[in-house]
Amino acid sequence: HRAVAILISGTGSNMLRLVESMQGADHPARPVLVLSNRPEAKGLKHAAALGVPTAVVDHRGRPKPEFEAEMDAALRDAGAEILCLAGFMRVLSADFIARWEGRILNIHPSLLPLFKGLDTHARAIASGMAVHGATVHEVIADLDAGPILGQAVVPILPDDTPDTLAARLLPAEHRLYPEALRRFAAGNRARFALL
Ligand code: GAR
Repeated sequence: HRAVAILISGTGSNMLRLVESMQGADHPARPVLVLSNRPEAKGLKHAAALGVPTAVVDHRGRPKPEFEAEMDAALRDAGAEILCLAGFMRVLSADFIARWEGRILNIHPSLLPLFKGLDTHARAIASGMAVHGATVHEVIADLDAGPILGQAVVPILPDDTPDTLAARLLPAEHRLYPEALRRFAAGNRARFALL
């Protein structure tokens, strides 16, 4: 079993879906740590309730290299082999990413390469497009780039606000990320789509 650490900053609903899928039968990976950069992240309690070890490495008031070195130590102590970013809202340095090269996944709430960065739901609505989606990709030093592993698509409806669109997308993310991790942990990097 490949040892997976999940990095969060907030609610952690995608993290929970990843943990639950790994705790199901016949999965090539297992969760070894949930790490948050925010001590108040709601996901920490939920992870602990599922029996997954948790850690907090606070990013505030310190240089980034020190923050990342502490994260790196916690991840290695836990025996992590694959990192899943799941609503982790800090940008990782090229140095950190190089140390975990080819072993970091991220979920981004847009159909990459469209709408890198923040406020993706509002930008998708403003674009006039009829569809929106989420992408799981391998992390490289460039933000929200890196090989695409899987994408899930939802419609944009005429009366959508960023909140209604985000609420429609989240369940699609919850299907997408566990499927992407299952394939990745089994060594399958072929792209797939959930339509
Ligand atoms: C998800 O929608 C995820 O795609 C997004 O944050 C949300 C986290 O929700 N990620 C990013 O915006 C990354 N820049 P969750 O904490 O309930 O999983």
